[in-house]
Order: sequence, then structure tokens, then C-alpha cells
Amino acid sequence: MRVLVTAGPTREPIDPVRFLSNHSSGRMGYALARALLAVGHEVVLVSGPVALRPPKGAQLELVETAQEMLTTCRRLWKDCDGLIAVAAVADYRPTQCSQKKLKMQAGEGRVLELIPNSDIVQTLAAQKGRRKVVGFALESGSGHEEALRKLKAKHLDWVVLNHPEAQGATRASLTLLDAFGGVQKKGPSAKTSLARWLVQQTFPSSLE
Ligand code: CTP
Repeated sequence: MRVLVTAGPTREPIDPVRFLSNHSSGRMGYALARALLAVGHEVVLVSGPVALRPPKGAQLELVETAQEMLTTCRRLWKDCDGLIAVAAVADYRPTQCSQKKLKMQAGEGRVLELIPNSDIVQTLAAQKGRRKVVGFALESGSGHEEALRKLKAKHLDWVVLNHPEAQGATRASLTLLDAFGGVQKKGPSAKTSLARWLVQQTFPSSLE
């Protein structure tokens, strides 16, 4: 199978030197890409800016903004058989990106106007046909209900519930929920081992 993976944060520019982003390291997405490759799948990895070595054998597409990630994913999704959306996509971007560096005005506040970005996994999953789609849900608190809401709203086959402590960390705990009411908990474990387990559950080996 050829699996599309989104990973890392996006950066939404404010001016030539500043952006909005988040703490995503890309570790879980890159670990999933490696785990998919290890069981014989092809991987197309669409990644925001991260400080990680590219997985050997993956087709790597580097992007910065949510809009670039969407355009790139749309182009690549046509030739893929499944999707794992791990990217911590910025939900909003500044309405305008200033061409010049914004100047500090001593003692004055500043209001930044934001507009929503498109939901990438939802957009792609709306055209999935028989292909399987895995999404993540990052929730403070238990988050079970909210993860299930995302599963339905975004047309997912599985949703991986995790928590803010996972962002930027090497270890995490997660809960895998499926569209038929299945619930499996895993961890705390290294993201590399969680990734291998998630691949077994969602896109098992094509070598056997
Ligand atoms: N996602 C996406 N495009 C977006 C936002 C999120 O593809 N613009 C995907 C993420 O990759 C993840 C899933 O949607 O697989 C859920 O992301 P999450 O940040 O938990 O939820 P949001 O939908 O952004 O909702 P909220 O921030 O309100 O919890």
C-alpha cells in the first residue's frame, strides 16, 4: 500500500520574521512513517518544519503553512491508498502577512486578526472512497467524547486520542478508537513503539 502521512507543525506567517505555530516535534508522524516502511508499505510524508532526519525510503514533501500542506496533500492523495494525519495543523492564520517587518510601538497593544484554515484530514477523507483514514485528536482532559465527535465529523476510520503532554515529547500514552466502538489503550511508551503498534492495528503488513 501507498500511505500518505502528515506530520509536524505548520507555520503561519505574520511578517517576514514571525509566525504562529505550536510545539509539535513531528516525532510521532516520522515514527509512523518508519513503522509503515518497516512492514513493506510505501510512504509519502508531507511534513511541516521539524528537526528530524527524514525516514529512509519515504517520499518527503516539505511544507510550511497549512495552505501549502493542503495543496500538497490534495495532489498526492489521488495516488495513495490510505492516510494517517498526525500533523498539528494551525487552525487559524493571520488574515494578512505584512511584507515588511512589523515595528514595535512602545507601550501599545496590537490586535492580530485570524481566519480559519481548511481542515486537511476532513477535506481528504471526504473523498476517500474505500480508503482508510486515521486521524489524531489532541485533547486536554479525558477527551473521549470529543475524539469520537472528530471521528464522525472528519469521516475517520480510527481516531488516536492523545494529550498535550505528548507534544514535543519522546514518550506518550494514547487511546485508539474505531468507528465500531472499539477502544484500545496503550502506553506510556516510546513513540517509536506506539507507532509500530498503531501500524499493526490500522495498516498491517503487506509482506505476509
Ligand atoms: N487536522 C487537519 N487540519 C486542520 C486541523 C486538524 O488535518 N486544519 C487534523 C490533525 O492532523 C488531526 C485531527 O485533524 O489528525 C485533529 O486535530 P486536533 O488539533 O486534535 O483537532 P482540531 O480539529 O484542530 O480541533 P480543536 O483544536 O478544536 O480541538
